[in-house]
Amino acid sequence: MRSALLIVLGLAIGIVGTVFAMNALHSREPYSHTVMTMMSHHAGALSAAVKAQKCDAVQSQRHLSRLLETQADFDEAFPGVDQPFKDEATKLREKTQAALQAAPADCKALAAAIKPIGETCQSCHQQYR
Ligand code: HEC
Repeated sequence: MRSALLIVLGLAIGIVGTVFAMNALHSREPYSHTVMTMMSHHAGALSAAVKAQKCDAVQSQRHLSRLLETQADFDEAFPGVDQPFKDEATKLREKTQAALQAAPADCKALAAAIKPIGETCQSCHQQYR
């Protein structure tokens, strides 16, 4: 009885373990998409705020810091990239840090802060996407 239970338990653990391993394998490739989608969400929220002329300083700060945090996963999302790609990623980080430090309090400041970020997204996409 006890050993039958252990076998069932072992099987269950095996199945769960396999599912995790398979998820890890599958998520390797699309993680780059996830990182980009996250950035796109936060950058999109910022430009939508400018368009709607509703720029809340606290929200802007939150989206900018999420945008910056997401970039910390670039190395994992894009393994084995060349130096020019890394340079673009560094440029994006610098522009995002600068925007965070500027702490845009109104739409005019926010528009000015996100412009160089958008330009960097575009310049990397032109070369690598
Ligand atoms: C260092 C280069 C680089 C920078 C900078 C960059 N991207 Fe990307 N982006 C890529 C690459 C490469 C792809 C294609 C990814 C793939 O197919 O796995 C991509 C794809 C995307 C996609 C499509 C995602 C998908 O599911 O296919 C979106 C949206 C996106 N980027 C948004 C952004 C935004 C917003 C920024 C700026 C905040 C940005 N990217 C900055 C390299 C970059």
